[in-house]
Amino acid sequence: METLNIQTTRLNIRQLKLSDLTDFHIYRSNPEVTKYQGFDVMTIEQAEQFINDNATKHFGNAGEWVQYGIENMETKQLIGDCAIKLDQYDTRIAEIGITISNFEQKKGFAKEVLLGILSFLFDKKEIHRVVEIVDAENIASVNLLKSTGFKQEGHFIENTFFKGKWGSEFQYAMLKREWDDRKQ
Ligand SMILES: CC(C)(COP(=O)(O)OP(=O)(O)OC[C@H]1O[C@@H](n2cnc3c(N)ncnc32)[C@H](O)[C@@H]1OP(=O)(O)O)[C@@H](O)C(=O)NCCC(=O)NCCS
Repeated sequence: METLNIQTTRLNIRQLKLSDLTDFHIYRSNPEVTKYQGFDVMTIEQAEQFINDNATKHFGNAGEWVQYGIENMETKQLIGDCAIKLDQYDTRIAEIGITISNFEQKKGFAKEVLLGILSFLFDKKEIHRVVEIVDAENIASVNLLKSTGFKQEGHFIENTFFKGKWGSEFQYAMLKREWDDRKQ
């Protein structure tokens, strides 16, 4: 079983721990943070259950979302979390998602996390393709993906019944060879 640990300039991306519960719950209970996400706001009990359930999951299992904590190395605080899923049928394809606490947004943290994850997946794990699916109204997330060099591949129109209405989604992706080109 592999324990994922990615360090960037300011951040440590590592296993979520029960000691993260307070920080985790603060932003996971905020409807602005969960607005465009597949999950809804959580009670403290649900947040605790989530961290416990997630502790049994490991990087490398096909088709399983695994959540990781994003820790600010200076303050030791959890400032968000991110998730990676290897494709159910082909583990050379990964899907990712990132959440940054509302108090910590627009400081370049998500971009730092995304670049750290891409470097891990492409350079260390030889992943072929990384995908992210975002709500078409999620401008922050679209800008993050564009700014990192992801390409828009799809625009699905009212494809998902989501939080009480039909929602549309974009699919963005990056290939290993595009990552390699980007570095030059
Ligand atoms: C999307 C999200 C992760 C971005 O996090 P962040 O740490 O604020 O992003 P960064 O500071 O790294 O900014 C990355 C880019 O997106 C842009 N951006 C970030 N928030 C933005 C906003 N609200 N509106 C417009 N652009 C925005 C930044 O200007 C930056 O662009 P640049 O690189 O060209 O300068 C954050 O808004 C979030 O957690 N949202 C709620 C959860 C969510 O919806 N996650 C995505 C679904 S998986």
